[in-house]
Amino acid sequence: MKILVTGGAGFIGSHTIRKLLDKKYNIICVDNLNNFYNPKIKINNLKPFLDNKKFKFYKVNICNNKKLANVFANEKIDKIIHLAARAGVRPSLEKPEIYAKTNILGTLNLLELSVKHKIKNFVFASSSSIYGNNNKVPFSENDIVDDQLSPYAATKKASELLAKTYHNLYGLKCTGLRFFTVYGPSSRPDMAPYLFVDSIYHGREIKKFGDGTSKRDYTFIDDITDGIISALDKNLDFEIINLGNNKPIKLNYFISVIEKLLDKKANIKKFPSQMGDMKITYADISKAKKILNFQPKVSIEQGMQKMVEWYLENRITA
Ligand SMILES: NC(=O)c1ccc[n+]([C@@H]2O[C@H](COP(=O)([O-])OP(=O)(O)OC[C@H]3O[C@@H](n4cnc5c(N)ncnc54)[C@H](O)[C@@H]3O)[C@@H](O)[C@H]2O)c1
Repeated sequence: MKILVTGGAGFIGSHTIRKLLDKKYNIICVDNLNNFYNPKIKINNLKPFLDNKKFKFYKVNICNNKKLANVFANEKIDKIIHLAARAGVRPSLEKPEIYAKTNILGTLNLLELSVKHKIKNFVFASSSSIYGNNNKVPFSENDIVDDQLSPYAATKKASELLAKTYHNLYGLKCTGLRFFTVYGPSSRPDMAPYLFVDSIYHGREIKKFGDGTSKRDYTFIDDITDGIISALDKNLDFEIINLGNNKPIKLNYFISVIEKLLDKKANIKKFPSQMGDMKITYADISKAKKILNFQPKVSIEQGMQKMVEWYLENRITA
């Protein structure tokens, strides 16, 4: 079974590839190694796989349809895990165009090629940000999601709509997974878990937006990759499924967990809440439990301990 993983050099992609290689899948990885954050981190993420005969890397931009088509022509791909995207809510307010191009056009290119090459299952990353200012918690896949708060969230909604359209038109099997704040070893360096650990460790200021009562449903990376691989194996017709921890954590408590693990006090600078920020993310995971046998196993205290241990071994940069 040959799996194309787009965005495979990124945080979630590289963890997914590691698990798939352990399960003896053949992996084709497509990533353009862009500089949204330091590309050296992405190259580092790929290093453990480079000697594996079951792994092949293409440095290709998913917006370049011609080069992407060559990958499909060269490789007999069975299924796709599409994770490549411009991620992040706040930067999408600064550069909405690159978000629209990557997340909408890139996804469209992959859907077209999936139909042409008779792909058996298309699993793709959506996001909790799609729920915007949803008043009802926990967030359910049955909730109407028409109130996004950022261009990023709108592009993720667009990719869900495109996938549904390709399913309706051509019967392409698609599963969209709405991830809720994913963290763990080799976390994305632009996200709060990494930024807080790094700054508290070095005694630098951390920026706290709002009064600290906002909540995030932090989900440990190994739980997320279990959910992705389950969706890959199930070949569902068309489903949108939340992958979260189902336990929202207050920002103030999250900071205190890191302080305890590092045995250092945070130097907190307060800022008002920012445009695009959601007050809470909270996943209803009953659908994921039922359809994917998804059962998050890692608490925030255990998960942050693993992340801090990884940080202390790998990433102490003054
Ligand atoms: N990390 C989270 O908490 C989270 C939450 C919700 C959704 N997601 C989604 O999950 C997916 C993976 O996120 P991540 O946290 O691993 O992010 P990441 O930035 O670490 O990984 C994305 C990868 O995609 C690649 N990429 C971006 N644009 C590309 C293009 N045009 N062509 C080829 N490759 C390209 C990047 O180089 C990167 O390696 C994304 O779709 C993201 O929107 C992530």
